[in-house]
Amino acid sequence: MNNIEGKVESRKAIQPPKKFVKQANITSKKIYEKAAKNPPAFWAEQAKHLSWFKPWKKVLQWKAPYAKWFVGGKINAAYNCLDRFLGTPTQNKAAIIWEGEPGDSRTLTYHQLHAEVCKFANVLKGLGVKKGDRVIVYMPMVPELAITLLSCARIGAVHSVVFGGFSSEALRDRIQDASAKVVVTASGGFRRGSVIQLKKNVDASLEHCPTVEKVVVVNRAMDPTQVPLKEGRDFWWHRLMEDASAKCPAEPMDSEDMLFTLYTSGTTGKPKGIVHTTAGYLLGANLTTRWIFDLKDSDVYWCTADIGWVTGHSYIVYGPLSNGATVVMYEGTPDYPEKDRFWRIIEKYGVTIFYTAPTAIRTFMKWGEEFPKRRDLSSLRLLGSVGEPINPEAWMWYYEFIGRKNCPVADTWWQTETGSILISPLPGITPMKPGSATWTMPGIKAEILDEKGKQVPSGSGGYLVLTHPWPSMMRGIFNDPERYQKQYWDKFPGKYFTGDGAKQDKDGFFWLLGRIDDVMNVSGHRISTMEVESALVDHHAVAEAAVVGKNHDIKGQAIAAFVTLKEGFKGTDGNEMIGVLKKHVADKIGALARPDDIHFTAELPKTRSGKIMRRLLRDIAEGRALGDTTTLADPSVVASLKQKYEETEG
Ligand code: PRX
Repeated sequence: MNNIEGKVESRKAIQPPKKFVKQANITSKKIYEKAAKNPPAFWAEQAKHLSWFKPWKKVLQWKAPYAKWFVGGKINAAYNCLDRFLGTPTQNKAAIIWEGEPGDSRTLTYHQLHAEVCKFANVLKGLGVKKGDRVIVYMPMVPELAITLLSCARIGAVHSVVFGGFSSEALRDRIQDASAKVVVTASGGFRRGSVIQLKKNVDASLEHCPTVEKVVVVNRAMDPTQVPLKEGRDFWWHRLMEDASAKCPAEPMDSEDMLFTLYTSGTTGKPKGIVHTTAGYLLGANLTTRWIFDLKDSDVYWCTADIGWVTGHSYIVYGPLSNGATVVMYEGTPDYPEKDRFWRIIEKYGVTIFYTAPTAIRTFMKWGEEFPKRRDLSSLRLLGSVGEPINPEAWMWYYEFIGRKNCPVADTWWQTETGSILISPLPGITPMKPGSATWTMPGIKAEILDEKGKQVPSGSGGYLVLTHPWPSMMRGIFNDPERYQKQYWDKFPGKYFTGDGAKQDKDGFFWLLGRIDDVMNVSGHRISTMEVESALVDHHAVAEAAVVGKNHDIKGQAIAAFVTLKEGFKGTDGNEMIGVLKKHVADKIGALARPDDIHFTAELPKTRSGKIMRRLLRDIAEGRALGDTTTLADPSVVASLKQKYEETEG
C-alpha cells in the first residue's frame, strides 16, 4: 500500500466556495443522518424520482451476497433517459453535444436522440436480437455508441462494451464469455490523427466466435470502399437506419433484469463480466449525478472518460441523461492537435461541470499552466476526479488553475462493481481535504478492517469494505457465481470486499490508498498482473514472468515485468527482445497493457513453496531497500536481481 500519512492530514479542510453553497442542490447534512437511520426507506424515497411502469412490492431482498432491489417493479432505463422528457421543455434541449477528434461536431436534442434510439432498437430487433441477448459494442466515442447502449436498454438486450483500445484477442475473449449474438462496431476511430481500424479487429476476433450472427458497422474515419463487409453477416449502420421506423415502445423490464455486463480485470488472468441490473443501477447513476455534480437544467456537463469504462456508462450515458442534462462527448485525446484541446472544448461549449482523472490532471500539470490560461474557463462551476487516488499536489493544481478556486472538487471513489459513486463530497456541504474522497454517500456504510476482520483505529490503514447492500451494486459475475463469492465475499463474510486499502482520519474522512490485490491501476485503467504475465509467457521465448505495478508520477502506476527466457534466447537489457515482448503484450491485450520496463533474470525470487515474491520485485522496481527476505528459497536470486537493476537504471 502507498503511504500518504502525515503531511496530508495536517492540511486544513477547504470549505466549498460561498457562491456555490448558496445555489447547491443539497444544503443540509441532515440527509446523511436520515439515510443512515433506514437505508431501504431512503432508497425507496429516492427511487420515486425515476419513472416506473409498475411500482415495486418490496424495496430490498437481501441474502448475502445476493441483493434484489425494488422487487416486482417494472421500469426501462432508456425510457428514463428519453421518453419521460418528451412533451416537456427538455425535449428540445441538447442531450448530446458531440465533438469528433478532427473537429467535426453534432448535436442531438432529446427528441432527436429518442428517434435515433427507437430506430436502432428496431434495427436490432430486425437482426434477431431479443430480450436477454448479449450485444458486444466495440466503438470509438461517437454518438452511435450512446445510441447503441440506449437501444439495447430499450428492448431489454444486454450490452457489453469493450473499450476500443483492446486488441482483437481481448475482444474475442469477451465476445466468447458473453456468447454474444451481435457486435456493433465502426470501421475505425481517430486517435491523435491516425486511424484505429476497429472493424479489422472485429473480423479477426470473429474467426473464433461462432455465436455472433450479425455485425453492424458505423462508417467512421475510413474510406468505406476499403472496409470489407461479409455478405449476410455485416451491415452498414446508415443503410439499416434508412428504413427503420422511429416507433419502438420501451420494453417494461423487471427491476432485476440485466441491463449490462462490463468486463474488468481481477486477480486472475481472465477478465470478469460484472453484471448490473436495471432499476438499482439506474437509481445509483441518476441520484449520484444529480447530487454530486449538483446538476441544474442550465448545466453543460462533460465527463472525459471513454464509454468503454464504467465511468462512461454511469456518468456520460445513464446518470446525466436520466436527469435531462446536456452532455458533451469528445472522441479524441487532450493533446490533439494541441495541448489545449480540452480547454478549447470547455470554452467553445461553455462547460460548467468537468469530470476527469488524476492521470490527466498530472499530465496537464506537466504541460504547464499556459495551456489552460489561453482559454476562457470561467463557465466552470464544479470539478470532479475519478479512477485512482488523487495526490494533494494534483488536487491543488486542479482547484487553482482549472477551477480558479471557485469550484468545489469532488474526488469520487467507486468501482465497476459498485455501479455508481460511493465515496465523494456533496459539493454544497462537505468540506474538502485535498487527496481525500471525504465521506461515504448518504445510505452507504463502509468500514476499514484488519486481516482478522476487526475495525482498525482511526488513522490506521486497512481493507475497505462495504457493510450494507446498495441499489447499484453488482449482482454477480456473468456465468461465474463461484468467483463472485470468492472474490468479494469470502474474505469478510457478509461484507463486500473492495480490494482497496484505505484509512479514515479522526474527522471521518476516507483516504484511499490504492489496490491491495494483484490489480494495477495504470493511468486509471485496471489491469491485472496475471493478465500481463499470461501475455508474456504466451511468447515462445519466455519461460516465466512476474509483473508488478511501480509508482509513476503521471500514470499512478507503471508496469514492470521480470522475465526469464527459455534456453537458447538471449535477453540483455537494451536488446531487441525488450521491444519484441512489449509489442507482444500490446498485441495480445491492447496498448494500455504495454509494460514500461522489462528486466531479464535467470531466476525469479520465490518462497520455499514456489510462490513468486512480488513484494520484493516491487521493492526492486521502485528502488527501495529490500523488505524481509527470510522466507525466500534462495536469497541470492533477489540480491543479484537488485544489483543488476541498479546497474541498468543507474
Ligand atoms: O482502486 C480504486 C480506484 O479504481 C478502482 C476501480 O477501478 P474501475 O473498476 O476500473 O473503476 C474506475 C472508475 C470508477 C478502485 O478499486 N479508484 C477509483 N476511483 C478512485 C480510486 N482510488 C482512489 N480514489 C478514487 N477517487
